[in-house]
Amino acid sequence: MRNTISGFSKFSKSEKIEWLLNTYFSDKDSARTLVQRYWNTDEKLQKLHDEFIENTITNYYLPLGVAPNFLINDTFYTIPMAIEESSVVAAASKASKFWLNRGGFKAEVLSTEKIGQVHFIYKGDFEKLQSFFAHVKPKLISETASITKNMERRGGGILDIELRDKTSDLPNYYQLHATFETLDAMGANFINSCLEQFASTFKNEAQSFENFTTEEKNISIVMSILSNYVPQCLVRAEVSCKVEDLKSKDIPNPEEFAQKFKQAVQIAEVETYRAVTHNKGIMNGIDAVVLATGNDFRAVEAGVHAYASKDGKYSSLTHCSVENGIFKFWIEIPLALGTVGGLTSLHPLVKFSLEMLQKPTAKDLMKIVAVAGLAQNFAALKSLTTTGIQEGHMKMHLMNILNQFEATETEKVKLIEHFKKNVVTHSAVVEAIERIRK
Ligand code: HMG
Repeated sequence: MRNTISGFSKFSKSEKIEWLLNTYFSDKDSARTLVQRYWNTDEKLQKLHDEFIENTITNYYLPLGVAPNFLINDTFYTIPMAIEESSVVAAASKASKFWLNRGGFKAEVLSTEKIGQVHFIYKGDFEKLQSFFAHVKPKLISETASITKNMERRGGGILDIELRDKTSDLPNYYQLHATFETLDAMGANFINSCLEQFASTFKNEAQSFENFTTEEKNISIVMSILSNYVPQCLVRAEVSCKVEDLKSKDIPNPEEFAQKFKQAVQIAEVETYRAVTHNKGIMNGIDAVVLATGNDFRAVEAGVHAYASKDGKYSSLTHCSVENGIFKFWIEIPLALGTVGGLTSLHPLVKFSLEMLQKPTAKDLMKIVAVAGLAQNFAALKSLTTTGIQEGHMKMHLMNILNQFEATETEKVKLIEHFKKNVVTHSAVVEAIERIRK
């Protein structure tokens, strides 16, 4: 069966839903009821969500949780986290609480440069291209004046444009590699608008550049787009304390813990299979805050993983040292985030999250997000190197298993009590449910 359709985008929302129900669902009424149950009763709010994307039929909920007690550069934060995975918020909360009385987290923005490129094909002499670039560069900048005016007034704008010869990678391939300061905006639209203007000016001016031959004048612009790889938009976050101060209920032997923790990080530094899972744990924290604050987690993911491979091998984003009796654990990652523009002023829960974070600047948010990643990794490694991950993770996951088996509230109370003293595994929960239902 070919379930294709032309003109779907022009249908009304209810026509789209009816087409889906008629095409894919045997129990149309139940499917329609489900779709409609997730609509917001506030029509204005629903319309706002419908208009975020295209062909919207309903809402897809993710829980918004909060992790309190984060002390970052001597300021207290409660961090919003939008995520579906159990134990992530608990782990972040546990890590924040652990570091609260050990000096908290220190975070620092190292750089804030964003990047965009015009990719083009030029068949001709490179020296002539260089002299054309020197000639046209001021015009590339001046012709973007209407786009950059407001950003410049706030202190940002275009930082530089370079001509890059990429012909050793691909025949006749060159770039205009541009750098930008976009302040509190993530800057995607600003950068892309500047780049498209550069491309248009560059192509037009080439046609009247006297030194070019006819073929050289015919520069072909392939595309103009920002890069989500931002290795010069870096933030660093760190925790440290005396090894002996790591001692706690879960860490009876701090010296042994510090060494084992460091080894766990070193393994992720040298072993790609481990590094990917290690960094996945970091991204549990990072993505959840990025999503809650209305930022683009796909862009952050792509850029962070490229950074993890910057030395030619995929490696850990966090590092650890134990020297002179001091345990130090840190992360350094590229993050292009915004606290103005995009969803930040549109999505009511994003506004709520940003207010909870005391209306951060983009730099503040970079620090908070990096700390969330570091805290998450600390909690995961602490569990992995002590109790193992399943004990705490399954304790948090218990409710999902109970819901899967449609446990009643009374059954939940009994089973939660039971699993305070027993290890949670999927099969143990199933057995316990069957036992109390007999
Ligand atoms: P626990 O010691 O059983 O918790 O830890 P507790 O009941 O003693 O409570 C201590 C604190 O933990 C609480 O303090 C909370 O801060 C937090 P309090 O609020 O009582 O003052 N906490 C909670 N916060 C909210 N809701 C809860 C809750 N329970 C505790 N229900 C915990 C339990 C899960 C926190 C711990 O075992 C842990 O941190 N485990 C690590 C879990 C983890 O990393 N999960 C991520 C998913 S697994 C994964 O995808 C990544 C991984 O593969 C990455 C890698 O390999 O590196 C592991």
